Amino acid sequence: MAAAPSSLIAVTQARSAKIAPSLLSSDFAQLGTDLQRCEEGGADWLHVDVMDGCFVPNLTFGAKVIETVHRVTKLPLDVHMMVVEPEKYFDDFAKAGAAVMTIHAEAAPHLQRQLARIRELGCKAGVALNPGTPLSAVEEVLDDLDLLLVMTVNPGFGGQQFIPHSLDKIARARRMLDEAQSRALLEVDGGINRATIAAARAAGADVFVAGNAVFTARDVSAEIAALRQLTMARA
Ligand code: DX5
Ligand code: ZN
Repeated sequence: MAAAPSSLIAVTQARSAKIAPSLLSSDFAQLGTDLQRCEEGGADWLHVDVMDGCFVPNLTFGAKVIETVHRVTKLPLDVHMMVVEPEKYFDDFAKAGAAVMTIHAEAAPHLQRQLARIRELGCKAGVALNPGTPLSAVEEVLDDLDLLLVMTVNPGFGGQQFIPHSLDKIARARRMLDEAQSRALLEVDGGINRATIAAARAAGADVFVAGNAVFTARDVSAEIAALRQLTMARA
């Protein structure tokens, strides 16, 4: 995988990396245990993938599960909304305990207003971009952004392969945020594992979602630690 220029590495080493295991790949029959292992392993956030069967060809869960997870973990819930008309769910998800709500630019024609509403509800506001969506989709709302999620697979399913071209997009996103002196964290989601995380970090990402890598590991805590270690390695 291509390495990022050393100037980018210097910038990213100064920002701490966050690891966000994705619940999508956890064993729902033992959700409580999985959540506990994430906490013990030092996860920073929990990533919660909400899918509506319309924006993406898969269905997952909604407010009830967010509320249940919130009750049994102290970790901030990073809710990734792969849904059309996301504003229909803002109030319920905020009440259920979401810390971050991220909506897709492709499903949010009134992006600025929608981000403002999320922040009004006391949550951090994020925008996700599919692999085929240019960074320019968020250029006009950088002031309203707490998080930019660059999808490194096409959303809908866990366990897919990281799209290599994403590295270049992550590096450009980093530059765009730095040039605008944006407070937004840069998150990557899809195919993040031991083979891809260091390059994504070197390209400038701050938050790393990992589903399959964490929950298919024999030792969840050790896997989180291994991923974190790789974010600290020089590319
Ligand atoms: C994909 C989801 C991801 C998914 C990541 O649509 O947004 O959060 O759970 O899973 P992995 O890490 O297995 O690619
Ligand atoms: Zn996700």
